[in-house]
Amino acid sequence: MDGNRPRERADRQEKVIPTTRDRGDDETRMRWLRIGRDVFLHGTAYAVLNDLIHRPEPLDEEKIWSFITGPEPAWRRWVREAWPPQWLRRLVLRRLEYQPAARGIQAHYDVSNEFYKLFLDREFMFYSCADHIRGDETLEEAQTNKANHLLQLIDPKPGERIVELGCGWASMLRYIEQHTGDRDHLEGFTLSREQASYIQQHFGYKVRLENFVEAEYPREYYDKVYSIAAWEAIRRHEVDVIMRKIYDALKPGGRFVLHFFCRLQDRLPSSISVGQLFFPGHVALSYREHVQAMERAGFRITMQTCHDYRRTLRQWFENLVAHRTEALKLVGVRTYNRYVVFFPASYKYFDDRMGVLFRFVLRKPPIT
Ligand SMILES: C[S@@+](CC[C@H](N)C(=O)[O-])C[C@H]1O[C@@H](n2cnc3c(N)ncnc32)[C@H](O)[C@@H]1O
Repeated sequence: MDGNRPRERADRQEKVIPTTRDRGDDETRMRWLRIGRDVFLHGTAYAVLNDLIHRPEPLDEEKIWSFITGPEPAWRRWVREAWPPQWLRRLVLRRLEYQPAARGIQAHYDVSNEFYKLFLDREFMFYSCADHIRGDETLEEAQTNKANHLLQLIDPKPGERIVELGCGWASMLRYIEQHTGDRDHLEGFTLSREQASYIQQHFGYKVRLENFVEAEYPREYYDKVYSIAAWEAIRRHEVDVIMRKIYDALKPGGRFVLHFFCRLQDRLPSSISVGQLFFPGHVALSYREHVQAMERAGFRITMQTCHDYRRTLRQWFENLVAHRTEALKLVGVRTYNRYVVFFPASYKYFDDRMGVLFRFVLRKPPIT
């Protein structure tokens, strides 16, 4: 009996302390389980990109950019669009769509303000599509072009009550104040805690950390309402509710300026599933769904333009890569990899014309 003791002890030790090889085997098993689950529920594009994000080391950025945005063999495109079928894609997305809006927003934005500073324009920190008119503008110049176009559409005047739905780091609020000299009548909404505290600390605008879909608005109170790159986050069950609220909150003759991208088709492409990796719960509506909701609320569409997002995405990507070391220090490998994949995946979405960036000016009819 005594002779067996050392052997028993050795057995016990083997069970308690997993070897490096066991850990490696476990990780491989988990990785394949994740890939299998992702392929089944979200399709191959989601599974491949999620696997890249989970790599333990920083990705080779230019290789990833070419892999995602480069030419794609027809069979690969067929596979990524064929599975899951529409009914399963809808079912999976429907479950995500009903989660609280703040969850998706905070997962994306409450990473680190310093991290966003590394790749956004240095002047305003706009996190929305810039206007490259000549084509060779710096990000700062292109964002100024965009801000000027929006300024012209909003046409703010001192004393007018103006609210931005989804104000980011207050970029456009600041631009408006520079032109009107009036900060007292400006308001904003965000669901990002980091953005709200940044604005409080640096600029002191009236910003509500609240879901603008659920908020209550005073009747016929605002002269202008605008939203830049936040309308994408509106879900199907919310669009009529918020359109109606904004219509009621505007004075007769008031205007609502929107800048957002949407799907061109009604069917759900694989890119909508891929989007869950970056904005969980966001399922961009189609162009038709948006326009019908504007009209149902009673708005008149007085202007509409479309814009190219691709150059902005490439510039953000280049800025991020140029600040790789600081970015890794601030947010770690997983988040860094997520953005290295996010920019080319978004570029591909616009390059394939799955979505288009629009600006709309809507008018509430004046009392006649
Ligand atoms: C892509 S950023 C754009 C920020 C800014 N407008 C710009 O151009 O830089 C989207 C912003 O919308 C806000 N947002 C999105 N959905 C929201 C909601 N339902 N309620 C409040 N804020 C929301 C986010 O918190 C974020 O500030």
